[in-house]
Amino acid sequence: MANDARNLDFVLSRRSATKLDAPGPTPEQLEQVLLAAGAVPDHGLLRPFRFVIAEGEGRARFGDALAATAAERRPEAPPALLEKVREKAFRSPTVVVLIASPRAGKIETWEQNATAACAGYAIVLAAHALGIGAVWKSVPFTKGKALSETLGLGEAEEMLGWIHLGTATREGELPPRAPLALTEIASVLDGAGRRPYGPLG
Ligand SMILES: Cc1cc2nc3c(=O)[nH]c(=O)nc-3n(C[C@H](O)[C@H](O)[C@H](O)COP(=O)(O)O)c2cc1C
Repeated sequence: MANDARNLDFVLSRRSATKLDAPGPTPEQLEQVLLAAGAVPDHGLLRPFRFVIAEGEGRARFGDALAATAAERRPEAPPALLEKVREKAFRSPTVVVLIASPRAGKIETWEQNATAACAGYAIVLAAHALGIGAVWKSVPFTKGKALSETLGLGEAEEMLGWIHLGTATREGELPPRAPLALTEIASVLDGAGRRPYGPLG
């Protein structure tokens, strides 16, 4: 790819869309977005992730499973709270549930889960590329009987939340983000040891 700063602008300008209306992505757009996950760093090329796509009534099934899992994990939760959890499934026309699906073998599970998380990022970034609004959401309870049945979760699998896709509305637009303060999150390891981040070279 050409060395063009606009490519970087594109990555830096991505923001989540907090309010998403119909229409959702077309089937072709959705396929393009999902295929972006094929380009993530992936040790051993294991593709340790999978997606469950819910639209229309499928969202009701997903919402029911979320609420049932919340009830299972928190039996004291009042019905109003469970309804709030259920409604999470309806925040956009299209929902892509992301599942980490680590394979048995010599690649560490944590590496595979990192790859699965990258797949989530690939989806929101690809959506941004196509002008589709996206936001990644989750709940504290990602495992449970209802979710396992509805999503077909295997023993080793875990739901890593879901990604809403749809048409971003003005009111759901987030302002541009301040750039990262590298002095806060980076340091440099040189021959003398580790020192605060500063100009290199
Ligand atoms: C695994 C994961 C789960 C998330 N779950 C939620 C969530 O349940 N609710 C929420 O408001 N944001 C959640 N977020 C954060 C949003 O996706 C989003 O990043 C945040 O609103 C900031 O917007 P930005 O992506 O434009 O920085 C989650 C992010 C990740 C990676």
